[in-house]
Amino acid sequence: MKDVMSQVDKFALCAAQVAKSFGDTQVLRNIDLLLAPGEVVALLGPSGCGKTTLLRIAAGLLSASSGQMHIAGQRVVDGSGFNAPPEARGIGMVFQDYAIWPHLSVLDNVAFPLRMRKLGRSERERRARRALDRVGLGHLAERFPGTLSGGQQQRVALARAIVAEPPLVLFDEPLSNLDRELREGLALEIGTLLRELGLSAVYVTHDQAEAFTIADRVAVMLEGEIAQIDTPEALFSASEQVEVAQFLNIGALIEGTLSASDGFTCAQSRLKLPSLAGKGKEGHARILIPRMAIRPDPQGALKAQVLRCQFQGDRYLLHLGLDGESTGLVCPADQPAPVNSQIPLAIDADRLRIFPN
Ligand SMILES: Nc1ncnc2c1ncn2[C@@H]1O[C@H](COP(=O)(O)OP(=O)(O)OP(=O)(O)O)[C@@H](O)[C@H]1O
Ligand SMILES: [Mg+2]
Repeated sequence: MKDVMSQVDKFALCAAQVAKSFGDTQVLRNIDLLLAPGEVVALLGPSGCGKTTLLRIAAGLLSASSGQMHIAGQRVVDGSGFNAPPEARGIGMVFQDYAIWPHLSVLDNVAFPLRMRKLGRSERERRARRALDRVGLGHLAERFPGTLSGGQQQRVALARAIVAEPPLVLFDEPLSNLDRELREGLALEIGTLLRELGLSAVYVTHDQAEAFTIADRVAVMLEGEIAQIDTPEALFSASEQVEVAQFLNIGALIEGTLSASDGFTCAQSRLKLPSLAGKGKEGHARILIPRMAIRPDPQGALKAQVLRCQFQGDRYLLHLGLDGESTGLVCPADQPAPVNSQIPLAIDADRLRIFPN
């Protein structure tokens, strides 16, 4: 991180060893986070892991207990107690609760950040109308927020956050008050808009699909720390910690023994994975079997029992057991399978992951 500190102006956001405690309770520790210009990073993690706290520190709404932060090269947080006020950071923000002003028209709401930057009236209007057009609300410019739907209000907040094309836009669960259909569409639109404008953003969510839709890289936060930051694909294929794999619900985690000659033998069932012979360290191990690694196959060597067959709209999800034990194994299938039937499975050994204990 030391080398990075001499090049902070190359990053949209540079956080180094940021920590935060409330009284005796430490809620953030060892936060290092670098965002390249134009990069979108999602903070993904369970409730209470510290996502909002980190975002509020970046926004200047909360002070850090220690650590440093730079936004577009400007020092905004310093462990010694320096904390630049929010308005001096030049960032855009979109929160869960819209936070648009009811007494201002849609146009004036969107133009507000430009007023703060002392732009002339006609330039403000021109740019605010363009931002509203970008979010598909050009026709509602003269309306007042109270007459808009939740989704429309959040689009106003989005237009206001991007109108000044700031070096960094911060999002805190902006879609969580909207219904699912609207959420999916708007997540895609936000991702596209950020890329078209080349804006950098930190996007907080606890929804994995949303994080994967919007972000170039996803930082998985667990208990106040960034456990892993990677592309969505790498998080799935190369989770570094069992906890990350579990949080992302990648597949089943099976305990057993690894031996150089026999491969993996499960402790609770007759599951054996001879293909893992010679891999990993001998002894007790946990094997992650991602749901993408198993599929129904008439030639498959492993027979599992269907415990539940869940229809998912475009496919089925089979919950599988072995020897009458529930295993946590799940596998996508094109066809339904009767509950309690035995189905043969093929396992793609290359996708299995070994976590030594
Ligand atoms: N002002 C505060 N005083 C004391 N504790 C706080 C304060 N703000 C947050 N916390 C605690 O810090 C932890 C992290 O909270 P935070 O709001 O950052 O979580 P989050 O990841 O955003 O969760 P969610 O997904 O539910 O929004 C929680 O345990 C919370 O109770
Ligand atoms: Mg939060």
